[in-house]
Amino acid sequence: SLGLFDHYMQKETFEQPEVVANTLEMVSGAQSISPQLFGASALELFPKITNILILACGTSYHAGMVARYWLEDVAGIPVNVEIASEYRYRKSVAQSNTLIITISQSGETADTIAALQHAKELHNGLSAVTLSICNAPESALTRQSQLKFLTRAGPEIGVASTKAFTTQLSSLFVLTLVLAKVNGHLSVAQEADYLKQLRHLPAAMQQVLLLEDQIKPWAKAFADKDHALFLGRGIHWPVAMEGALKLKEITYIHAESYAAGELKHGPLALVDEKMPVIAIAPNDGLIEKLKSNLQEVRARSGELYIFADRDTQIETGEGVHVINLPDHAGLLSPILHTLPLQLLSYHTALERGTDVDKPRNLAKSVTVE
Ligand code: F6R
Repeated sequence: SLGLFDHYMQKETFEQPEVVANTLEMVSGAQSISPQLFGASALELFPKITNILILACGTSYHAGMVARYWLEDVAGIPVNVEIASEYRYRKSVAQSNTLIITISQSGETADTIAALQHAKELHNGLSAVTLSICNAPESALTRQSQLKFLTRAGPEIGVASTKAFTTQLSSLFVLTLVLAKVNGHLSVAQEADYLKQLRHLPAAMQQVLLLEDQIKPWAKAFADKDHALFLGRGIHWPVAMEGALKLKEITYIHAESYAAGELKHGPLALVDEKMPVIAIAPNDGLIEKLKSNLQEVRARSGELYIFADRDTQIETGEGVHVINLPDHAGLLSPILHTLPLQLLSYHTALERGTDVDKPRNLAKSVTVE
């Protein structure tokens, strides 16, 4: 039931600290992490993996896009991330010893199931291992995969995915640590440090959700916009993609996302005083690059809405609005930066009077092609 909330999307957004804590339960209590979190046979299967293929749709695809940065950076494993509906029809070249990961809230998305079957055929005889990151314990994807990790988000009723996404990200970070450990890429001290960060994550998420009152005036300003541009770089580019998807899905505002370095290769032509530009701008290694991209936007009179963090050091000013997240969360920053984007979409939808939980033309689970 909705309890004190008006909509399922709102309830599910605010449930995120709790369900992320649930998802991480087996990890948080432990002194060290083990491959067996992904199934008994992972102990024997993971050491053989030399490359990863991630298959998913929509928001789950964005989770895979974030995970690629983690897996390559921390575990040192090459990763391909593919939209399931495209992958299933492409004669791609399979490598050996691939970990094939499907990511899905429902476990019943037709394209993702078909992509897994296609991947199995292409990798036949090449020692592939299949893993499903899924929110449905008994689903087509978990049944058809050798290994699984359950996101313990609980039932997600709002069509727009919120808590499924952040629990997927949390699970994928755990996977990253496990594979890094198996590969000898993780020292005991690093493992302890990452586990500490994971234990702190639910509390950090709670802090970010407190920014809601600062976001509401932005939603008022967005309510009569026709277009919006979301920018991010590096690991926050897929977060920008997810922000744009959420906005178009529940408010019907046309939103696009770009890796900010691509601006001058085309989309900058769209920017004028009527184009709000949302930037995901935590103080990571690419912040100076992003800042110069944002100056290009400002020089064309684009109105900037910047989700920064305490260390970013961007000042509010003429045409520049800034909300600072409390701390810079390092590699976990994408999880925190997703939350204000969900709140921005939610409150913009309320301003526009759209059906938040059941957006037009969409179904919760896409079981047909
Ligand atoms: C967007 C959304 C969809 C799903 C996609 C995949 O808010 O919910 O993009 O993420 O349809 O669904 P699952 O994860 O069930 O495979």
